[in-house]
Amino acid sequence: MSIYGDYIKSVIRTVPDWPQPGVNFRDITPVLQNRSAFRKLIDSFVHRYQDSELDAIAAIDARGFIIGAPVAYELGCSFVPVRKKGKLPFKTISETYTLEYGESAVELHSDAFRANDRILVMDDLIATGGTMLAAAKLIQRSGGQVVETATIIDLPELGGSQKIQEAGHGVFAVCT
Ligand code: PRP
Ligand code: HPA
Repeated sequence: MSIYGDYIKSVIRTVPDWPQPGVNFRDITPVLQNRSAFRKLIDSFVHRYQDSELDAIAAIDARGFIIGAPVAYELGCSFVPVRKKGKLPFKTISETYTLEYGESAVELHSDAFRANDRILVMDDLIATGGTMLAAAKLIQRSGGQVVETATIIDLPELGGSQKIQEAGHGVFAVCT
């Protein structure tokens, strides 16, 4: 939990039965629409990583971009997009992961990092952890060091953050 965790959690909206019956969707748009909440959200990450000497933030398509870019700007490090398959124009490396039904893949430009760059991986939410873990694997394959993985929301009952930790990465969540 972070400095503003309880407050951010109180602003997140739960939409029942979306995108399908039985799912309680955690919607971050009320946080983005509220200037005070949005600032506190970004500050939660800046506060945690201001002394981490990061070289880059690798943020995951699409909602990870919303937080990754302002945090990178504020910390004075670079920003690298980890995108869904087929969106990056240059030479890419790719990692597939399992979804509830079927598979998906994330991609990274092959020249995104220098050897041993210190990278923070960011996304809006960890559910099963498949997306975050695939992104972390891409960064390691490209020679970067994963300093930590960071998210707004962790859903611990789905086991994703535990799986990421078992793979050797720290997990920071603003709220659970
Ligand atoms: C959501 C969310 C994370 C991922 C988490 O993205 O933004 O990236 O799922 O789930 P996991 O921990 O089970 O992998 P989604 O695939 O819905 O894509 P979007 O951001 O493009 O909507
Ligand atoms: N909110 C946003 N993204 C998600 C969720 C959720 O509740 N579950 C899986 N991906």
